[in-house]
Amino acid sequence: MSNQQNRRFTVAIVGATGAVGETMLNVLAERDFPVGEIIPLASERSAGGEVEFKGKKVKVRDLATFDPAGVDIALFSAGGGVSKEYAPKFAAAGAVVIDNSSAFRYDDDVPLVVSEVNPDALRNRPRGIIANPNCSTMQLMVALAPIHRAVGIERINVATYQSVSGAGRSAMEELGRQTAAILGFQDPDPQRFPVQIAFNLIPHIDEFLDNGFTKEEMKLVWETRKILADDSIQVNPTAVRVPVFFGHSEAVNVETKTALTPDRARELLEKAPGVVVVDERKPGGYPTPVTHASGSDPVYVGRIREDLSHPRGLNLWIVADNIRKGAALNAVQLAELVAKESS
Ligand code: A2P
Repeated sequence: MSNQQNRRFTVAIVGATGAVGETMLNVLAERDFPVGEIIPLASERSAGGEVEFKGKKVKVRDLATFDPAGVDIALFSAGGGVSKEYAPKFAAAGAVVIDNSSAFRYDDDVPLVVSEVNPDALRNRPRGIIANPNCSTMQLMVALAPIHRAVGIERINVATYQSVSGAGRSAMEELGRQTAAILGFQDPDPQRFPVQIAFNLIPHIDEFLDNGFTKEEMKLVWETRKILADDSIQVNPTAVRVPVFFGHSEAVNVETKTALTPDRARELLEKAPGVVVVDERKPGGYPTPVTHASGSDPVYVGRIREDLSHPRGLNLWIVADNIRKGAALNAVQLAELVAKESS
């Protein structure tokens, strides 16, 4: 990349018609990323349609027949299979790929980066690919990294309450459709989820693994260790899909190496980049997906209190927009770090 100031970048969005891709376009525009040309890409079925960027309609192109030469930065959010096939091709053509899928996250030669937590890691990208963490790990790291740095975290117990937008557009449509059907005394007819999601909870996200955990749960274990560069951290996760459209919530208990009072934790979190503390001990004095997270950038932390059952335990409630900080926003923040390298 050149050293010119005011450099503008050719940016490809792979999966531009999806829930995350659309938000990537919006976040690039909102943050005034120096885009020279924007190239929305999707499958053949959406090619020829249009998406909006900075108030203008832009044609969607077919990924399968697109030549990536000339692309500077490619943001991928079209699933692991698409990333595996096409991300190396974009990287070979000279693009820096920022991949939102889990295809490369656990490869040693692919950095896994949360912009507020380990931004320096993205400089070492021998394959030209940078991985964006999973949404539930993302918000957990933004809130827990400051605590880990201050006193060390030994163990994390986390139960997630994950919104349907994390499963893409078709999942949001299913929640809407089932809600209307049930209110009309009709059969919910599950298609996208294995059982009814409207008015229900599903303790199952991504595939089941041999150890009895789901892959979504193990992502929290693997990614926490990689991002915090500490394989000694123990993580005990349960991931649950809830009938919320936008915003993931997490009930978290941490065991620290040295004791941390709730007041000191609050102080640390109030200073932490990307975190907003909402912690008044009164009705409504806590963040929720609808009242705080949906459509906004920060990771919100509330319900900070000691663990009455453990001398070095602390409880927190962490909420963020899974499509923004959990996916599109972090990807754009990583693109900003890449863009800065060449200015
Ligand atoms: P398409 O509109 O052509 O299906 P979501 O997770 O919200 O469902 O979005 C998935 C995104 O990934 C969409 O933009 C979708 O495009 C895109 N996508 C899915 N499969 C492919 C593929 N084989 N090639 C290119 N884009 C794909």
